[in-house]
Amino acid sequence: MRSILIAGNWKMNMGPKETADFFAQLDDSAQKNIEGVDAAVCPPFVSLSAAFSARKSGSAVKIGAQNVHFEDNGAYTGEISTSMLNELGCDFVILGHSERREYFGEDDAIINKKVKKALAAGVTPIVCVGEVLAERKENRHFDVVKEQTAGSLAGLSADELKKIVIAYEPVWAIGTGETASPEQAQEMHAFIRKELAAQFGEEAAATVRILYGGSMKPGNADELLKQPDVDGGLIGGASLKPSDFSQLVAIAAAQ
Ligand code: PGA
Repeated sequence: MRSILIAGNWKMNMGPKETADFFAQLDDSAQKNIEGVDAAVCPPFVSLSAAFSARKSGSAVKIGAQNVHFEDNGAYTGEISTSMLNELGCDFVILGHSERREYFGEDDAIINKKVKKALAAGVTPIVCVGEVLAERKENRHFDVVKEQTAGSLAGLSADELKKIVIAYEPVWAIGTGETASPEQAQEMHAFIRKELAAQFGEEAAATVRILYGGSMKPGNADELLKQPDVDGGLIGGASLKPSDFSQLVAIAAAQ
């Protein structure tokens, strides 16, 4: 019922030229319309135009941004507005990534404003939540993720919830080569869905896609995607290589 989403988070990698090269090298098979699978890449802001130009006409790969501001246009030096993302045609925006939380001081209240702004603009937010290693070791990971989820999504209606994507990204698994086991991922995804059901109702909770993120790659994607509540991946490192990204899309297509 929920289609799989394979979304690449390029972080601060891939300038316009590398972005054009990526699309030139990407397998046609990863760009065709696959029933039940969505593929997307989220380049840095300066490479978004290059991504739209380089994407072959008819390609099904969607394009997203990695952040957006919660205000309309105006005096916010260094920021980007939803109207700018709309003008380019961005489908997605990643919000609340742990790197934004850790290095740029974003908290649930700020992320919540951004989620509402993106929804109002018709750009699908990919809302990230996840615990750090110390929190897991202290067995506080469920509480942390519950609080982040509730705070980031505060005030949304059930209909709005259906329009968002959630990414569970245990911080200890991001860029470390260490991955949550399929059981750990499923356990947390099921927990998030249960919390969403309590707040927004079963139907909305059953609709929302929950991606796993944290060192997902072709070698481990199949067993993660086989979990009933894992609806795709938010992929950093492995999404930078066209061959790996193509393989991830193929693995999703085979589910
Ligand atoms: P990674 O990053 O796949 O390189 O671990 C995932 C993410 O941070 O979104």
